[in-house]
Amino acid sequence: MFVLVNLKTYPCDPLEVATAVRDVDETTDARLAVAPQATHVERVAETGVETWAQHVDPIDHGSNTGHTLAESVADAGAVGTLINHSERRLKLADIDGAVQAAQRADLETVVCANNPEQIGAAAALGPDAVAVEPPELIGTGTPVSQADPDIVEDAVTAAENVDDDVSVLCGAGISTGDDVVAAGDLGAEGVLLASGVAKADDPRDALEDLVDPL
Ligand code: G3P
Repeated sequence: MFVLVNLKTYPCDPLEVATAVRDVDETTDARLAVAPQATHVERVAETGVETWAQHVDPIDHGSNTGHTLAESVADAGAVGTLINHSERRLKLADIDGAVQAAQRADLETVVCANNPEQIGAAAALGPDAVAVEPPELIGTGTPVSQADPDIVEDAVTAAENVDDDVSVLCGAGISTGDDVVAAGDLGAEGVLLASGVAKADDPRDALEDLVDPL
């Protein structure tokens, strides 16, 4: 299973979480990675943890003030990027452009979507993976695998119907190892999670619990 810890703009110490993710990754067969804010990518990547960007824009080098260039996050050490996270929505044409920008910079891509219908559309854009996250469950601590298992299974079917090579992740409310196992049982190849680690009193403990049953 792929476990991607999104730090959003939570007031956690990105280096503390990054080193915990790096260390716990070495204890498990699961693949762990962290997605800090863009300004923290370089320092986080220097810890040796697998580092992802939270977003890239559908742009190339040039006149794009205030945008995030895929090549720049790759130069800073990111190996992948989220695109169209529920908290950073893009128009369809811009999702397409962001996937192309990320691919140009050799970044792995996960395109997020709210539901299975959008997952089908996202998969058609040719990312490495898609992630279904019902917005109403994000940050609630109620795992999508428990509250809405159908949405995960339907997302897997929707992606398979478009392109077998696109992996499906799920996210929202996931905070325990059992939640990750349940996501895998529903056909997901990984999970996105944030508050369960970024807001934990001890992120390392939270991560150890998370991978314990994997
Ligand atoms: O990107 C993952 C995220 O949206 C899920 O957040 O806090 O429910 O784990 P959370």
